[in-house]
Amino acid sequence: MPHRENSPKLYIKTYGCQMNVYDSERMSDALAPKGYETTLAPQGADLVILNTCHIRENAAAKVYSELGRLRLLKEERLKSGKPLTIGVAGCVAQAEGEEMLARAGVVDFVVGPQAYHRLPQLIERAKDGERVVETDFPTEDKFEHLPQATRKVTLGRGPAAFLTVQEGCDKFCTFCVVPYTRGSEVSRPMAQLLAEARGLVEAGVKEVTLLGQNVNAWHGEDKSGSASNLGALLFALAEIDGLERLRYTTSHPRDMHDELLAAHRDLEKVMPYLHLPVQAGSDRILKAMNRQHTAEDYLRLVDKLRKVRPDIALSGDFITGFPGETEEDFDATLKLVTEVGYAQAYSFKYSQRPGTPAAINAEQVDEGVKADRLARLQELLNAQSRAFNASMVGRTMPVLLDRKGKHDGQLGGRSPYLQAVHLEATEDMRGQIVEVVIEGAHANSLSGRLAGKDHDAFQTSVLEKGDAA
Ligand code: 5AD
Ligand code: SF4
Repeated sequence: MPHRENSPKLYIKTYGCQMNVYDSERMSDALAPKGYETTLAPQGADLVILNTCHIRENAAAKVYSELGRLRLLKEERLKSGKPLTIGVAGCVAQAEGEEMLARAGVVDFVVGPQAYHRLPQLIERAKDGERVVETDFPTEDKFEHLPQATRKVTLGRGPAAFLTVQEGCDKFCTFCVVPYTRGSEVSRPMAQLLAEARGLVEAGVKEVTLLGQNVNAWHGEDKSGSASNLGALLFALAEIDGLERLRYTTSHPRDMHDELLAAHRDLEKVMPYLHLPVQAGSDRILKAMNRQHTAEDYLRLVDKLRKVRPDIALSGDFITGFPGETEEDFDATLKLVTEVGYAQAYSFKYSQRPGTPAAINAEQVDEGVKADRLARLQELLNAQSRAFNASMVGRTMPVLLDRKGKHDGQLGGRSPYLQAVHLEATEDMRGQIVEVVIEGAHANSLSGRLAGKDHDAFQTSVLEKGDAA
């Protein structure tokens, strides 16, 4: 859309997971027909939306302190006669609802993740002076009403895109708010997803990451009306010409069924990287978490995955200091991590989420103990991911160049294992998948050179520790 001086400006601040990144993009798509243009800072905006996350500690506190800063901006604006509308979306909005309006006078509207298709009307009502709360779980399908993802891609969202295939979760892990804030599992129909994916490819996308809180619980029907699961969806997506790479996240170990394993075995397009959270290694804790699997089940699944796809790289999520966790339980987590060998991982101290069963468990673990265990776990996980990155040096691998590099003459991309890779390459190569010789491994990225090119002409870029795309 051409830039217009007097079109209203929208600023969205996104917290949390990739689902929220996707939702923020859809919100800006939903508001584009009303003339809204996205801007990168709240200062020039007419509408600010905080797209919030509630999964871990301090989420609500962070949102309220951001709202405090916005209150000052809103007051300044009032003086200058250019009003500012402020909305809160996402899981904190869903969890707080009416309470948010009472606590933060600056908020004009509160909207939960199931109601984004109603944003244009909501904003009109808010602008008319109503303080609006929309946190019901409506029966209509929000995806039917949200604009599809193609428009922004042509404006340069890059060759890698997200596609939300399901939302919500029915697993009810005892530490987790997702089943309450995102509601129960809803899968989008296969035909709708295939059409959206084709649209993305036409707009230049080469890699699609399927998103869902419990993505591998996706289910639907194929053309002939037969029941389908995520494996079948991957097989169908793999038939789209020009769609070169497929990923999906986040998976629950219980839903890694055979057809999904077959997709890893048979489809070159399915990347050899899987985020498969286990949370803990002690069966006693796994049971208290209501994970519905044992450590042994998980290890067996990892074996099966490695049988069908020997080079598959795994990542995981871990929680330390879940209520009742003893030193012995924690040792079981370290043992599981050592057995699996993770390429990448996310680990957190347990935090009490209001409304979840574990929050009222009497055996809460001391903060210091949680922190100490987290540090020990992260030491092990970091060593594993450094070793994994180091093992790439000398290999040649396809890299999707999807972003600018740190310096002129450089581009950044992603390896099949989702590592950030930096190299010297020209801007016209952006969007392509190229063969890269890996020459350096760093804490959070790799560096390399285009394969088949003269080393002198394409020098490696050396990145400092901690660099990541
Ligand atoms: N405390 C700590 N970590 C949590 N997660 C979810 N809820 C909590 C909580 N209450 C972590 C889990 C999950 C990831 C997205 O966030 O590891 O997989
Ligand atoms: Fe939360 Fe994931 Fe458990 Fe669902 S499967 S309740 S999203 S941790």
